[in-house]
Amino acid sequence: MELPTIIVNFKNYEQATGDKAVELAKIHERVAQESGVSIAVAVTALDLGRVCRAVSIPVFAQHIDTVRYGSGTGKVLAELVKEYGAYGTLLNHAECGLEDMVLEESIARAKEAGLYVVACANTAEKAAEIVEMKPDLVAVEPPDLIGGDVSVSKADPKIIEESVKLVGENRVLVGAGVKNAEDVRIALELGAVGVLLASGVTKADDPYSVLLDLCSGLALKSE
Ligand code: G3P
Repeated sequence: MELPTIIVNFKNYEQATGDKAVELAKIHERVAQESGVSIAVAVTALDLGRVCRAVSIPVFAQHIDTVRYGSGTGKVLAELVKEYGAYGTLLNHAECGLEDMVLEESIARAKEAGLYVVACANTAEKAAEIVEMKPDLVAVEPPDLIGGDVSVSKADPKIIEESVKLVGENRVLVGAGVKNAEDVRIALELGAVGVLLASGVTKADDPYSVLLDLCSGLALKSE
């Protein structure tokens, strides 16, 4: 399956939910087409169906539960997420943390339903544990930096290096505070394959320009 290089998590931002989720996802699609970069969006389950119908870029659910068809009132069913056209799911985001056993089962359920799995971890050590549960990618995000002004790339580059060392090449996304091309360049030079971000795009006055700038960071990476 295609490896998403930039994943933008729409969370429940007002600028990124409901009708605005569709509009914002279309901007991502436009930048993906213009730049050739693999850009994905992660939307609330409530917006999943309409965003999937509106764009051709990969769309992720922000979470799925372990339930199967049948009971499980209020839970997010992996098979339905797939049926709506989602490409994958985030799991264990810092804002939606899971016990290890539940995470392992959730990864298995998501894969059983044919979803690409990005499992989040708060630390490099946790990322090394989680990779044993066989997600497609691990996204490492120091919780203190999430939603803030300083990026993981600048505030905590060691966590990127350490995660890549423990988890291996081509398996690590990093996130928290990522806002611009320089943040992306540093993350990739330290061995990450991409970035997971939210507020840098969802709260931007001009998300199109921010996305283009983020994509330019991929080209800045020195060989
Ligand atoms: O899922 C991405 C996220 O937790 C990072 O958020 O706003 O720091 O880019 P943000």
